[in-house]
Amino acid sequence: MFDTMTLTKAFGALCGALLIFLLGGWAADGLYRVGGDGDGSRSYVLIQDDSDAADEPAEEVVEVAFADVYAAADAASGERLWRQCAACHRLDPGAHAVGPSLHDIVGRPIAAADGFSYSNAFAELDGEWTPERMSAFIENPRQWAPGTAMAFNGISDVEDRANLIAYLETIGD
Ligand code: HEC
Repeated sequence: MFDTMTLTKAFGALCGALLIFLLGGWAADGLYRVGGDGDGSRSYVLIQDDSDAADEPAEEVVEVAFADVYAAADAASGERLWRQCAACHRLDPGAHAVGPSLHDIVGRPIAAADGFSYSNAFAELDGEWTPERMSAFIENPRQWAPGTAMAFNGISDVEDRANLIAYLETIGD
């Protein structure tokens, strides 16, 4: 009949087959779970929902043009904001403090006050102070003019900036 060797071989073959069967089962299980978790359509719908939600506010954001805000600016409100600048600036002609006199500043060439020593960052700038340019500068001085000596954090509210510049426009010749 069967000798020990044949029995051992048969047993070994059986074990091998079982092992392959088990491994195959695990692999299939894994594949099945991956498929189940992904659940194709559902997660796709969720992602779509998210992106829809993210898109909506973006469409509702209305870019406010500075010119429009400036056209409706209120100099009297701006005068109250001047306090923040008065720490360093004067409005009398030629009166320099930490910063240059801002007399007649709207429309004045940049870095052009006689007798004030500007930073290198400012000395390199060309052009004049249009309301738009001043708004950009005041919003974030160190970003608009990297290296500027004006140690001021900025005014983030566009209406405040417009009101303040409208006030400064009343101070001049
Ligand atoms: C901490 C002091 C300080 C404060 C506060 C400050 N400034 Fe200045 N400002 C300066 C200095 C210093 C300069 C010169 C900048 C340079 O040379 O880099 C300057 C320059 C300017 C200039 C350019 C002038 C020119 O001749 O080109 C404008 C415009 C200006 N400031 C507006 C303002 C306004 C408006 C405020 C208030 C919202 C303000 N600053 C607040 C210190 C200040």
